[in-house]
Amino acid sequence: MERIEVLSSKNISLVVPEKQDIKLWYQWVNNIETQKYLWSMFWQVISLEAEEDYFNKLKNDQSIRQFCIYVKPKSKIIWNISLMEIDFQNRKANFWIAIFDEKSRGKWYWTESIKLILEYAFEVLWLNKINLWFIEFNERARAVYEKIWFKYAWTLKQDFYQWWKYYDHILMEIFFDNFKK
Ligand SMILES: CC(C)(COP(=O)(O)OP(=O)(O)OC[C@H]1O[C@@H](n2cnc3c(N)ncnc32)[C@H](O)[C@@H]1OP(=O)(O)O)[C@@H](O)C(=O)NCCC(=O)NCCS
Repeated sequence: MERIEVLSSKNISLVVPEKQDIKLWYQWVNNIETQKYLWSMFWQVISLEAEEDYFNKLKNDQSIRQFCIYVKPKSKIIWNISLMEIDFQNRKANFWIAIFDEKSRGKWYWTESIKLILEYAFEVLWLNKINLWFIEFNERARAVYEKIWFKYAWTLKQDFYQWWKYYDHILMEIFFDNFKK
C-alpha cells in the first residue's frame, strides 16, 4: 500500500489524508443525501477550492486529527474519521465519522474504524473522554454508537431545523475507563 498507515487492524487502516483525496472528498461533501445527517455541511455547496482550503488548514491545526478510512481488501478510501476540538488541557475531544462511499455502508467497517480511533484517542493522545453529537433521526448512527459503548449524555431540544420540523441533537460520550473494560 502506498498510503501512510497510522493505525491498522484486520480490514481497515486509518491513513494520513493526502492531496489526491481532495477530488473525492469534493464529490462526496456535495452529496445532499449524506449532508442531511451532517449539520455542519447541510445545504452547503462546497467548491473544489474550498475543499483544498480545508485540506490545507488541516495540516497546521493541532486541535484536529483527521484520518481517511482505507479498506484493505478493496484498496479504497471510504472517507474519514476524526477527532475534532481536541482539548489537551481537559483531555477530551469530539468524534466524527462519515462513510460517504454508499457501497461501503452496511459492511460493519465502522466497527474497526471506531475502535482504532478510540485506541488512538485513549492510548496515544491519552484523552479521558470522547463526545459525539448526532441528530435524532440518524437511526443508523445511533445504532452504531450504542453498539460501540458510547453512552447517552444529553439532549439539546429543537436544535436542528429540516423539512419544516425541529429535531433534537443528542450527545453521547465514552470515557477511558469504559473503553479499557
Ligand atoms: C453512520 C455510519 C458511519 C454507519 O455505518 P454503516 O456501515 O452505514 O452502518 P451499518 O449499515 O452497519 O448499520 C449499523 C447498524 O445500524 C442499524 N441500522 C442500519 N440502517 C438503519 C436504519 N435505516 N434505521 C435504523 N437502524 C439502522 C442496524 O442495526 C445496523 O446493525 P445490524 O447490522 O446489527 O443490523 C454511516 O451510515 C455514515 O457514514 N452515514 C453518513 C454520515 C453520518 O451519518 N455520520 C454520523 C454523523 S453523527
